[in-house]
Amino acid sequence: VPLGDATWLDVHFEASRRSYQAMLESVGFLPGWRVLDAGCGAGSHLELLADAVFPDGSVEAFDIDPDHVAALRGRPEVSDLVSDLRVADITDLPYPAGHFHAAWCANVTQYLEPSEMERALLELRRVTRPGGLVAVKDVDMGRARIAPGDPELLPRLCRACEAAGARPESSGSLRGSRLADWLTAAGFTQVRQAVQVIHHRAPLSPPEGELVRSWLPFLAGLPEVSSLSQEDRAAWAAMADPHRADSPINDPGFCLTECQVLAVGRVPRG
Ligand SMILES: C[S@@+](CC[C@H](N)C(=O)[O-])C[C@H]1O[C@@H](n2cnc3c(N)ncnc32)[C@H](O)[C@@H]1O
Repeated sequence: VPLGDATWLDVHFEASRRSYQAMLESVGFLPGWRVLDAGCGAGSHLELLADAVFPDGSVEAFDIDPDHVAALRGRPEVSDLVSDLRVADITDLPYPAGHFHAAWCANVTQYLEPSEMERALLELRRVTRPGGLVAVKDVDMGRARIAPGDPELLPRLCRACEAAGARPESSGSLRGSRLADWLTAAGFTQVRQAVQVIHHRAPLSPPEGELVRSWLPFLAGLPEVSSLSQEDRAAWAAMADPHRADSPINDPGFCLTECQVLAVGRVPRG
């Protein structure tokens, strides 16, 4: 399953809904604000953003993937939530300076090369008015763990992916713990960062089960697995097939730990 796939995004959101909602609510969006959902994907956060700023505020959204935008346009309830929905690249935004009171950007920066990340943050700063807020949430894969088994198994795969450098999200998903530094470097003030550690523990809820049964085989199928030790390759082979009795997914003590980081900064005044 491609991890940008709308069904997968929905499953991931549902599996972690309470934590994601808590993170979004901690940003400080105020009723009446015009907010941007940058890289909205399948639109998982649109309703939460609307809840924060409606009835007098508004939500605008974009994604670089025309399929995501077309799918959202095809959902009648979305037009009640979003006043402007477009295809756009976060590194070159089609909005005037200071157009928004705040911007929300969830799990997008992991896909950006460092130079794109710098441009994206400067663009979010430009389109948000002085005194407004920019909130960037992303995963910190360096802290993700799978139990039972060797707690370093997943970090070793992450490091192998980063070393191979084939996809920007390999290193992008490892810079979560430094999001605040990126915002500070982009000129934001009052930058704060918080972490949500999410434990998907057995017995898994239906969306958690779906998440785990698609995510672990995805990781197990990454080409970088072949560069790991024989022991690690065997452990990943067990995870590639959720029906295998020796897959940790079927262990009553199973726990997938994911770590989400939220960094919030204010656009300087004057
Ligand atoms: C993991 S999804 C997250 C979607 C949504 N924000 C969420 O949290 O459910 C990443 C999204 O970033 C979008 N994306 C990647 N690079 C982008 C770019 N340069 N500009 C805008 N969107 C981008 C992808 O198309 C995808 O929809």
